[in-house]
Amino acid sequence: MKITILTLFPKMFTGFLETSVIKRALALELVKIDIVDIRDYATNKFRHVDDTPYGGGAGMLLQIEPIDRALLANRSKDSYVLLTSPKAKPYDQAKARELAKKDDIVIICGHYEGIDARVEHLVDEKISIGDYVLTGGELASMVIADSVIRLKNEVINPDSLAFESYDDDLLEYPQYTKPYDYKGFKVPDILLSGDHKKIEHYRKKMSLLDTLRFRPDLIKRHRFTREQKELLLEILDDLKSGNIKVD
Ligand code: ADE
Repeated sequence: MKITILTLFPKMFTGFLETSVIKRALALELVKIDIVDIRDYATNKFRHVDDTPYGGGAGMLLQIEPIDRALLANRSKDSYVLLTSPKAKPYDQAKARELAKKDDIVIICGHYEGIDARVEHLVDEKISIGDYVLTGGELASMVIADSVIRLKNEVINPDSLAFESYDDDLLEYPQYTKPYDYKGFKVPDILLSGDHKKIEHYRKKMSLLDTLRFRPDLIKRHRFTREQKELLLEILDDLKSGNIKVD
């Protein structure tokens, strides 16, 4: 897989490319990432890539021409082109899974003061990473690249991907490591029982409970299996009896 990022701030990507899972994925050549400086495609000697808005208004807008030139020089006919923007549908795990199937993605990083609206015509899709405004699309492009790359085969241990938050619209169950007792906060005993069936049952229940507690909006759109309906009834009983305590 190849990911090409068009940006005004290439330096922002140094830490991202040189750390942890992404560094390893690059070293193993599981992914190739090209960072392209949009200014290299400016048509003036001052390398200016922005100008004032037609119709007036504050600030400078990123122009379409350098972006188009950068895109033409760095895309292939098969590239899937994204534009980061707060004016788009919010990104989620389903979209990450969809993008992970592509071989060639180009991400154009938007600009904090704005971007010529015609850039929309150059892209396949606009993506927002959430309902807040960032100073530019660089962090958004890293979020997209990170979430996509970790889904590629062999980038991380497949067991870690076996069940994780947002699969099936549920949050991942809570996990614990040593010590058993930290300042009175104890690991649930069932996890030490060695009984794999019981542990699996407990984890399924906790996944439902945590989704109810922290993301009830996900529960609303979730289609429950018969097993999950039974688990929900168990959770209610556990809460009533004090078997499970929540804040
Ligand atoms: N640029 C500014 N805010 C953004 C957001 N929330 N998502 C993607 N790109 C952005």
